[in-house]
Amino acid sequence: MIARRRKPSIVQAASARPFTYRNGRLWCDDVSLESLAEQYGTPLYVYSARQIRERLRLFQDAVSGRPATVCFAVKSNSTLAILRLLADAGAGFDIVSGGELERVRRASKSALKRVVFSGAGKQVWEMDAALKAGILLFNVESEGELELLAQRAEAAGVRARFALRVNPDVFADTHPYISTGLREHKFGIDIGLARTIYRKAAKSKWLDAAGVSVHIGSQIRAVEPFAAAVERVVALVGDLRRDGHDIRYVDAGGGLGIDYNDRLESSRFDPAKKVRDYTAAILKATGGLDAHLLLEPGRFVVAQAGALVSRVLFVKRNGAKTFVIADAAMNDLIRPALYQAHHEILPVVRRGKSRVAVDIVGPVCESGDFFARDRELQKTTPGDLIALLDAGAYGMAQSSNYNTRTRPAEVLVDGAEAKLIRRRETLKDLFAAEIL
Ligand code: LLP
Repeated sequence: MIARRRKPSIVQAASARPFTYRNGRLWCDDVSLESLAEQYGTPLYVYSARQIRERLRLFQDAVSGRPATVCFAVKSNSTLAILRLLADAGAGFDIVSGGELERVRRASKSALKRVVFSGAGKQVWEMDAALKAGILLFNVESEGELELLAQRAEAAGVRARFALRVNPDVFADTHPYISTGLREHKFGIDIGLARTIYRKAAKSKWLDAAGVSVHIGSQIRAVEPFAAAVERVVALVGDLRRDGHDIRYVDAGGGLGIDYNDRLESSRFDPAKKVRDYTAAILKATGGLDAHLLLEPGRFVVAQAGALVSRVLFVKRNGAKTFVIADAAMNDLIRPALYQAHHEILPVVRRGKSRVAVDIVGPVCESGDFFARDRELQKTTPGDLIALLDAGAYGMAQSSNYNTRTRPAEVLVDGAEAKLIRRRETLKDLFAAEIL
C-alpha cells in the first residue's frame, strides 16, 4: 500500500455521502451536478473517487493489524475505472463469473492474485481462465463443482486452492431476495457436511483445501449475524485442522448494509463506526484464529459514493396523483422495482421550501417502473434535474436495455476533476450483436 493514499481526509471520512448543497445546488465533491448533466447528458451516474477510496480504506485499516485482504465484490459495481481505482488502493476482488475475471484483468493484472471466485454455477471455461490467471481462491459451492475443479486443475497442471462456501444456517434480517445464509437457500454447502467433503478432496493432489468461506446475504445492518456465521466457520476450521487440512484462509463474505433512509441533510449515518463495529465483531468471532482473513464488501464501498442524475421530462396529474416522469427508468436503476428499495431523491437545484407528494417514475411501460411513490419533492417542472442517491452499488451493474433503452454514461469525480468513465450507449451498440 502506498502511504500517500492512506492519508485520511478527516472531513470526508466522517460524512456519509460526497454530495452536498452549495448555494442551493447539489455538488459531488468539488464538481456541480448541473455542470455534469450539461456536459454529459442524462441519465448519468456520478461517483466520487474520494469516497470509494475512503470506504475501502475503512475496511483495510480495521483489519490492518493482521493478515487480511479486502476483496471488493465486483458485482456491485463492475465499471473498469472503478475497479482500477480500487486495485490501485490495494483491493482484492470477489468475482462470480469469467466476465468479472476479465474485468479485473483489464483493470489491473497485478490484482488477479488477490481474486476470490464465488458463485454456485461456475463453468469449465471460467474455471480454466481463473486457474490460468492464478487467482487466490475458489469458493466452491457444491461437491459437483469441486470434482470439476479437480479435473480442470489436473488439465491445467496446477493445484487449485479452494474454500468450501459453507451454509451456516444463520438468519439475517434483509430482503428475502438477497438473504443467503439459511439452509433453504441455494447457496453454499451444509456446514454439517463440510468435513466429509474436505476429507474426500484431500485425496486429489490437484486440490488444495486452503480455506473456508461464508456469505450470509446482503444489506445486513446488524453485526451479530456476521459474528454468528464466522463463529461457526472458525469451529469448522478447528475440526478441519485437526483432520490434517492446512486451512489458511477464512473468507467472511460481504453484506454489510448502509442506511438508505438516512437523509442527506440530517445524516446520522457514521460509516467509520459501522465498519469498526462490523470488523470488531468478526475479529472477535475469529477468536484469535491464525488465518488470513478475507472480506468481500461491495455495497458499503460504493453505494453512497454514487448518484443517478436524471432530468424531468413531464409532470402530469392522474386523478389525485401527480407523476414526475424522469428520463431515467427501472432499466437504469432497478432496485426500487425489484426490492422495493428506498433511494433518497433530491432536486439538483433547490428552490424554496414548499413540497408536494409525487410519484417519481420513468418512461418504461410497466407500473413497476417507479423510483418513489408519494414522495415529498419540491414543486418540479420539466427540465429540472433530480438526483437519486446511494445508487453507486447495484445500480449501473444491474442496468439493462429493457424497452430498447441505451444505458447511462458514468462519470468519476476526483476532487475538482470529472472524468467520463463510460460513454452513453448508442443505438448502434444495442444492435451490434443482432442478426437479421
Ligand atoms: N460476496 C458474495 C458471495 C456475494 O454474493 C455478495 C453479494 C457480496 C459478497 C457482496 O455483498 P454486499 O457487500 O454488496 O452486500 N442486487 C442486490 C444485492 C445483491 C447481493 C448479491 N451478493 C441489491 O441491489 O440490493
